[in-house]
Amino acid sequence: MSKTLQAIRGMNDILPEQTPLWRYFEGTVAGLLDGYGYRQIRMPIVEFTDLFKRSIGEVTDIVEKEMYTFEDRNGDSLTLRPEGTAACVRAVLEHGLSGGGQVQKLWYMGPMFRHERPQKGRYRQFHQIGLEVFNLDGPDIDAELIVLTWRLWKLLGIRDAVTLELNSLGTSEARGRYREALVEFLTAHLDQIDEDSQRRLKTNPLRVLDTKHPETQAVLVNAPKLADYLDDESRVHFDGLKARLDAAGIPYVINPKLVRGLDYYSKTVFEWVTDKLGAQGTVCAGGRYDGLVEQMGGKPTPGVGFAMGIERLILLLETLEQVPESISRQVDVYLCAFGEQAELAGLTLAERLRDEVPGLRLMVNAGAGSFKSQFKKADKSGALHALILGDDELAQQVVGFKPLRGQGEQQNIAWSALAGHLATCVVQG
Ligand code: HAM
Repeated sequence: MSKTLQAIRGMNDILPEQTPLWRYFEGTVAGLLDGYGYRQIRMPIVEFTDLFKRSIGEVTDIVEKEMYTFEDRNGDSLTLRPEGTAACVRAVLEHGLSGGGQVQKLWYMGPMFRHERPQKGRYRQFHQIGLEVFNLDGPDIDAELIVLTWRLWKLLGIRDAVTLELNSLGTSEARGRYREALVEFLTAHLDQIDEDSQRRLKTNPLRVLDTKHPETQAVLVNAPKLADYLDDESRVHFDGLKARLDAAGIPYVINPKLVRGLDYYSKTVFEWVTDKLGAQGTVCAGGRYDGLVEQMGGKPTPGVGFAMGIERLILLLETLEQVPESISRQVDVYLCAFGEQAELAGLTLAERLRDEVPGLRLMVNAGAGSFKSQFKKADKSGALHALILGDDELAQQVVGFKPLRGQGEQQNIAWSALAGHLATCVVQG
């Protein structure tokens, strides 16, 4: 017996019942970003593997063990993008978008791929909406990114369920000095820290701060603090950001252990987290990456951005029951036609209504059928009203207008008056 075909583990179909919520979410974000003057960019899903190694960092979980990397027919090593920042920087450089100090405020949306262990809120193909800003180095733009996410949480009705965690990683020089102090401290406590942290100590010591291991965490209590090593420039930047968030009334928590899993960050890093989704509680995360463009072969160009995980935010909307009722109805009116002549007339009538009533969601019955079966389909479509066209109606140039939900009697409406009637009672309602 042949094996049933299945999607790859951790890669999900988004079914028709779910797409209205996705479209609502994506549309809300796109509208919000239009309002802040951000422009959309679309990058390929596959890039040369080297791009991710050079930007995300060789010694990160993503590059070490999570990338979908393969050789193409030319023998080039390619990788399904695990995130969007690297490709966005590549595109900006390739097309000279940041040249001459041009400010770019960009956003992108689409699938990302990481070979992680799938669980609720963590998938191997997942979707992000990301923002990247180039050539602005002040805390004002860091604040704008946070302010606009705050507005988004308000629009979506999830503001009370998310917390902003903030940290500053300092300039790369400051981080270098801190790294030395941390390595010295942890080396002196080597026998008390877990194996993975011992390995990270050699390769990427700051990631030890991220450990979930309780004994290592206990050791870290007395470790040197990154905040004590911050250079003046980073401190002023961080204070500037905090002052703006205070002014905007956005609450935040300073998390000195927040280091992020990608190597390109400097100065500001932040995460929006929720306790409503279990272990995968980070719904949006990012920070500043002032050295990345130069590291990738461009001129020194400050950059800052973040990405939100769409699946996690959709889960949060569902968990908090913040799914707007209006999105569940996808059909306003269902047209039933009985007999060949009525069907023909129905086709032209429907097209005319589509011309005359913008936004009308009109489904025309296909596959003929009895009264009973067409009404059943009309009802199942979720439509508010059915339009009925039979031989009698045809002769009188009217349609039967039948409410399918709630109160109201069926009435006949002249074809000439139908568009006006639908515009008031369906589209605006
Ligand atoms: P990231 O923290 O790796 O950052 O991912 C950002 C968000 O994507 C996470 O907070 C989470 O919501 C979602 N996410 C990540 N992995 C998964 C997964 N396996 N399943 C479901 N959702 C996931 C970045 O990707 C950076 N590029 C963000 C950035 C942009 N920094 C500066 N600019």
